Amino acid sequence: MVIDKEFRIATIDDRIYGSFIEHLGRAVYGGIYEPGHPEADELGFRKDVISLVKELQVPILRYPGGNMVSAYNWEDGVGPREQRPRRLELAWRTIETNEIGTNEFMDWTKRVNAEVMMAVNLGTRGIDEARNFIEYCNHPSGTYWSDLRRSHGYEAPHKIKTWCLGNEMDGPWQIGQKTAEEYGKLAAETGKAMKQVDPSIDLVACGSSGSGMPTFPQWEATTLEHTYDVADYISLHQYFGNRDNDSANFLANGLEMEQFIKTVISTCDFIKAKKRSKKTMNLSFDEWNVWFHSNDADAKIEPWSIAPPQLEDNYNFEDALLVGSMLMTLLRHSDRVKIACMAQLVNVIAPIMTENGGKAWKQTIFYPYQHVSTYGRGVSLKPVVSSPVYDTKDFTDVPYLDTAIVFNEEKEELTIFALNRHLEESLDLSCDVRSFEGYQIVEHIVMENENLKAVNSLGDERVAPHNKGVSSINNGVIETLLTKASWNVIRLA
Ligand code: AHR
Repeated sequence: MVIDKEFRIATIDDRIYGSFIEHLGRAVYGGIYEPGHPEADELGFRKDVISLVKELQVPILRYPGGNMVSAYNWEDGVGPREQRPRRLELAWRTIETNEIGTNEFMDWTKRVNAEVMMAVNLGTRGIDEARNFIEYCNHPSGTYWSDLRRSHGYEAPHKIKTWCLGNEMDGPWQIGQKTAEEYGKLAAETGKAMKQVDPSIDLVACGSSGSGMPTFPQWEATTLEHTYDVADYISLHQYFGNRDNDSANFLANGLEMEQFIKTVISTCDFIKAKKRSKKTMNLSFDEWNVWFHSNDADAKIEPWSIAPPQLEDNYNFEDALLVGSMLMTLLRHSDRVKIACMAQLVNVIAPIMTENGGKAWKQTIFYPYQHVSTYGRGVSLKPVVSSPVYDTKDFTDVPYLDTAIVFNEEKEELTIFALNRHLEESLDLSCDVRSFEGYQIVEHIVMENENLKAVNSLGDERVAPHNKGVSSINNGVIETLLTKASWNVIRLA
């Protein structure tokens, strides 16, 4: 591999390390919020969860859904708690108590130093509710909705910058599913009204809910025909699972994610050309992760309970490897992907788990997310890579070496993220970094495990990184050993 200071992809937008909290399962109730818990603060937020979220340095949080937002009345979640209605939550078939709503969530995000990416309901609702909601959140004072917020104890506007125009509106599971034509028109008009209220906001239009959708990528093209001028980003969602227990194939899914990003970029640029527009549409990869372990358990959950344990995937070691690969894919496309959200953050397909009344703990996927969020700030560099390849059921020519490079100019740090996809053999990596004169190896962090299926649990976090990786540098060339099926972070300064 050759890495050079001048081979720049882009300055990374920190918001690609975002995450997502939906009113789903135990994400909010029993996750971030549990009044009466020994770790609860004066507002009922769990301090143990806050400190784990801070370890991840999450810059932006998508809220309140997800599928849930498509039948959500934001008004239910503001004002005096005792007057808030309990509602049937149709997406996940639970009961929503509305104990937590917009204002409380804003309070929580201040505690974890994150900004909010707020979604409006374009399933059952539309322009009118969205314009009222943004007036409630962002208008300073002197109008019905802004003064209502002030009467609820929030004198200063929340100044929420980023807004999602609905969620996965192409999905048949969505309450209020729409055709691309219907959605495009509604999103454009809603966005127009929202920007009239607050022209400083950024808007994310819904792309397809996955690259496997039959309407992909025509959905993007039609939606963008309508929304190109008013929207600032188009969303991408993607989840992977190792359902056939084919690990070599599973670990190659970064290639699928890469193709997805490239296709969406091409579609955006096609519409740009058609419209003779000077504006370049950027991408918000606002749901991504591994999700499949909990599918069977979820099918057995009785409807209409409060905060049941839904989507509680227990992640294994190979899931952590793929999560590392997905993060590197985002880095390699940081010229167009400006926002991304690991879905989700606490208890629901999450890096952080809690016991109700008990402790919080880290899943395997916590670590690659933490590494890339911590050391992946700066400029993404394009490495020149030569790697042996393999074929799988779904992919050909999969490089064993998957990598992304970040140069933090301010701190004068260079970080090599690298995955060895080979399940049986180590990779000897030789890496020319001669343009980084005088740089020495600071540490080589490794996640490895004999058992691809090893998981963490409360009190037994056996899948964790160490920093005893083997790397040396001589005359500007790094020699390093990437052990079989391993995630590596090689840091130089
Ligand atoms: O993150 C879980 C769900 O996945 C979200 O609610 C939805 O947007 C997607 O289908």
